[in-house]
Amino acid sequence: MKNDVNIAVLPGDGIGPEVVREALKIIKVIESKLGLTINIDDAPVGGAGYEATGRPLPDASLAMARNADAVLLGAVGGPRWEHIDFSLRPERALLGLRSSLGLYANLRPARIFSALVDASTLKREVVEGLDILVVRELIGGIYFGQPRGVDTLEDGTRRGFNTLVYTEPEIERIARVAFDVAGKRNNSVCSVDKANVLESTNFWREVVTNMHSCYADVTLSHMYVDNCAMQLVRNPKQFDVILTTNMFGDILSDEASMLTGSIGMLPSASLGEKHAMYEPIHGSAPDIAGQELANPLATILSVAMMFKYSLNREQPSAWIEAAVESVLAKGVRTRDIMSRGMKEVGTQAMGDLVAEELEKRRDD
Ligand code: IPM
Ligand code: MG
Repeated sequence: MKNDVNIAVLPGDGIGPEVVREALKIIKVIESKLGLTINIDDAPVGGAGYEATGRPLPDASLAMARNADAVLLGAVGGPRWEHIDFSLRPERALLGLRSSLGLYANLRPARIFSALVDASTLKREVVEGLDILVVRELIGGIYFGQPRGVDTLEDGTRRGFNTLVYTEPEIERIARVAFDVAGKRNNSVCSVDKANVLESTNFWREVVTNMHSCYADVTLSHMYVDNCAMQLVRNPKQFDVILTTNMFGDILSDEASMLTGSIGMLPSASLGEKHAMYEPIHGSAPDIAGQELANPLATILSVAMMFKYSLNREQPSAWIEAAVESVLAKGVRTRDIMSRGMKEVGTQAMGDLVAEELEKRRDD
């Protein structure tokens, strides 16, 4: 294991810089606890990249990400850039990073902290003990398929179109990730598609089923995406690993996040053969930016995933999760997870409290 680690930090827009600042406090604590040297470089992406260079993903930012051991991203986007050309919008930076770095596997864990069971809009018995992992394909499907665009037919009718396409190797590699990770959890994969309507996802089902023959210990089931959306609120604990396409994963992971109390709680890891990027699943939330209202826990928990998956260190990862758990157990909350009788704190105070808890684990 290397003791000298390079992390590229891409704070982005809106609440991105605020939540990343808190996550960096956590990285500092771990650095001194483990005696590591963590070199942090940061660069603008998204709206910030556009303002700095005229492009949402400046070459220098991409190069920095490419050379790092891991990338930590905040969030991109905001109303200020909603009216610029589509190809220059902040979201293109995120999609560009994912595809340029080959980050095909997006892991989005939806695990409920016991202190937050009552913050969910669902009943305690429905969500208590919930632990789902959404494995979302991230660089294929309708997000990237060609042809795409808006054009005008001969009769003058305008139309917009995108293409939902998956090749066999693209499905095989993401299915492998889901089966492998299920083997370290509860050995169950539910593959989500719309095989009754879309040929491309009927093919997805066929390829996932073939791949399953290499994983005798893992149970495979299939579910249509509409049913899955319904089952996630009806009985979410039936799921262990949900394997799905890029767009279905986008939608279902937002839904799954609300089972845990708030979208402000969900971290993610985007993994490829050579690179990895970690980010909260929430967006840039421009409506609350700069007001000390953002919940930094999703980004802090993304750092926990970074130590586990990129830096091969399980212990700091477990420490960070335990520190978050104990801060929540003390009744401290940001506004998004606030409930009666709890103590509301701002973004920075939440980061400080988790860092303090983490410090205490120094001699565990
Ligand atoms: C996500 C986001 C992105 C996506 C957007 C911002 C491009 O919603 O990471 O879930 O659709 O993948
Ligand atoms: Mg999304």
